[in-house]
Amino acid sequence: MTRIRLTALALAALTAAAAHAQSDKIKVGLMLPYTGTYAALGTAIENGFKLYVEEQGGKLGGKTIEYFRVDDESDPSKAVENANKLVKRDNVDVLVGTVHSGVAMAMAKVAKDNNTLLIVPNAGADAITGPLCSPNIFRSSFSNWQPAYAMGLVAAERQKHKTAVTITWKYAAGDESVKGFKEGFESKGGKVLKELNVPFPNVEFQALLTEIAATKPEAVYAFFAGGGAVKFVKDYAAAGLKDKIPLYGPGFLTDGTLEAQGAAASGMLTTLHYGDDIATQKNKQFRLAYAKTYKLQPDVYAVQGYDAAQLLAAGIKAAAGDLTKRDAVVKGMEQAKLDSPRGAMTLSKAHNPVQDVYLRQVDGQSNKAISVAVKQLADPARGCKM
Ligand code: PHB
Repeated sequence: MTRIRLTALALAALTAAAAHAQSDKIKVGLMLPYTGTYAALGTAIENGFKLYVEEQGGKLGGKTIEYFRVDDESDPSKAVENANKLVKRDNVDVLVGTVHSGVAMAMAKVAKDNNTLLIVPNAGADAITGPLCSPNIFRSSFSNWQPAYAMGLVAAERQKHKTAVTITWKYAAGDESVKGFKEGFESKGGKVLKELNVPFPNVEFQALLTEIAATKPEAVYAFFAGGGAVKFVKDYAAAGLKDKIPLYGPGFLTDGTLEAQGAAASGMLTTLHYGDDIATQKNKQFRLAYAKTYKLQPDVYAVQGYDAAQLLAAGIKAAAGDLTKRDAVVKGMEQAKLDSPRGAMTLSKAHNPVQDVYLRQVDGQSNKAISVAVKQLADPARGCKM
């Protein structure tokens, strides 16, 4: 190659980088469910994200945030195409999404292939911070293992149950949640008698509730969320099981759902990295601001969206607003110590939150944190080489 051509190439690259660096906007691609059983979760995540950005005057690290949105419908078969709309068509600087583990795994692959920054504000797929872990992939929520494993310990040690039946939607999140519960429960001498499933997002539970009644376990562990969680908890009570066999789950079973579940959820114990009444300044301020802005009570999904924005802000600031400085962005995010409404939060080497998992109890319309089930629990990040 001639010297002149080299110089021309170098110049072109420099100009492109400068154009990016000088852009006063950062494009955020929100890929979330806005329809279906997880619709309310997608909205809460978007609300939380935007609340943090608005608290900073609409800018992060001096850059105006511009939004692009896609409804992923919690449909894994459309996930690659949907992610590409944001990455290739809209040319976003960062992808934020999603709720459903199957969709999120496809997003992680697209993010890897295109070296796009991805922040996962819910989906717990263990693989995302396991075998699929990558410098450009971060999570502001949890791994499916985290709350599930904690509930397994609580069911065996605190509640002294010896046997349990599990029930879930048959897909990655449900499978991994059950696996995490079983690991915790059986490590303390419990025994899972049966693992029951329904296809996602099916809510025909009657036959399986009959099977639970016939099996007579000491406890039931269920993974459902959103609209499905409302229906399951109500059906469980209506089947007359609530007072016979205590129902446990990760906190998704009762988060953002209490108004619709009513008395069917009262007194339920769940484990999660958030509780409504956490008595920090940050949580009080967050809950007030969220309620005032959206005329809705926040939930764990809103918290995770808010923290996704906080995490991004840490990266942008570390790179002085220049997202082309990827190493600086990544380092800033890796080293972030977030003042989250959930409490202090840092990231593991695999980019998954290290966080307290609370034991919560439903009290009226509130998931009250009654103790810390496991302090500063880190996902084991099995299979992550980074
Ligand atoms: C998931 O698919 O990873 C998932 C969905 C909803 C939740 C939690 C996890 O509430």
